[in-house]
Amino acid sequence: MKIGFIGAGKVGFSLGRFFVQGGIPVTGYYSRHRASAKEAAAFTGTEQYDTAADLIADSDALFLTVPDGAITAVWQEIGKYDIKGKMICHCSGVMTAAEAFPQADRTGAFIYSMHPLFPFHSKYETYRELPGAFFCLEGTGPHLPLWTKLLQQLGVQAQVIPAAEKKKYHAACAIASNLMCALLQESLDLLKNCGFSETEALSALTPLAKSNLTHILEEGPTAALTGPVERGDTETVKKHLACFASAEDREIYRLLSMKLLALAAEKHPGRDDAQLKKLLETPAQA
Ligand SMILES: NC(=O)c1ccc[n+]([C@@H]2O[C@H](COP(=O)([O-])OP(=O)(O)OC[C@H]3O[C@@H](n4cnc5c(N)ncnc54)[C@H](OP(=O)(O)O)[C@@H]3O)[C@@H](O)[C@H]2O)c1
Repeated sequence: MKIGFIGAGKVGFSLGRFFVQGGIPVTGYYSRHRASAKEAAAFTGTEQYDTAADLIADSDALFLTVPDGAITAVWQEIGKYDIKGKMICHCSGVMTAAEAFPQADRTGAFIYSMHPLFPFHSKYETYRELPGAFFCLEGTGPHLPLWTKLLQQLGVQAQVIPAAEKKKYHAACAIASNLMCALLQESLDLLKNCGFSETEALSALTPLAKSNLTHILEEGPTAALTGPVERGDTETVKKHLACFASAEDREIYRLLSMKLLALAAEKHPGRDDAQLKKLLETPAQA
């Protein structure tokens, strides 16, 4: 199987080099700007194409590694050529293959989404960090087992999910990465109120946050849980809830603590947490 890339950006560069290094044939690159495609071709030891038509003709699979907002427009463009039997893939986390590639059945192409759950920060460096990364696959064609095996052979994790669950999957990813930033910001804001500078606060939190995250990832959230909710310490939680300046911040603490209470109940079956539950069930006053 020969793979071509439309879109010579961070993901195009990185996946191309990753595939080439893993012995997967890559034909080359077509991009909006010729210079980008040329640079990617040089980086991967492949070809630069001046037209999408030539790249399509030479490739069995095409990765549309363009920004999410451009995927469907590029799809409509390549749909003008003979793409019957070709595998067309995008790497967006939130869109399904069918959403990005409408009316694919009219073309005879097989469509897939392959989302690398990984931050591609660099065109030139990220490919080195990909072993061990996770790819989420879905699509309408028969090649999902083939892609799964191929990716696993390259040393990454790969799992197929139903198209209907793609939004949920992407929300899950956002919680584990983006929302962590919001949580840490909540913590920093409180520490700044205590007189810490941002640098001091980050430095103070680093050993706590790193050790906690390591335990969560290795043992799961229930086993890793410590703190007042885990201990069933209603008085401490009451004091915490009283120290927030805004109702929104108090609500974040309260709602997440309710989620923790369910984990604590799993960890300490039979413990009576009625008092703590009652406290946490009371919404903040605006
Ligand atoms: N970056 C990440 O961390 C990450 C992680 C997972 C998934 N993804 C997904 O991967 C895809 C690509 O993201 P990226 O970060 O690689 O984006 P990027 O670095 O901005 O690169 C996109 C490339 O697409 C090219 N392009 C834009 N419009 C085009 C068009 N109409 N025709 C041909 N080429 C066009 C641009 O090429 P020129 O340079 O020629 O203008 C640009 O270099 C997106 O679907 C994104 O959601 C990204």
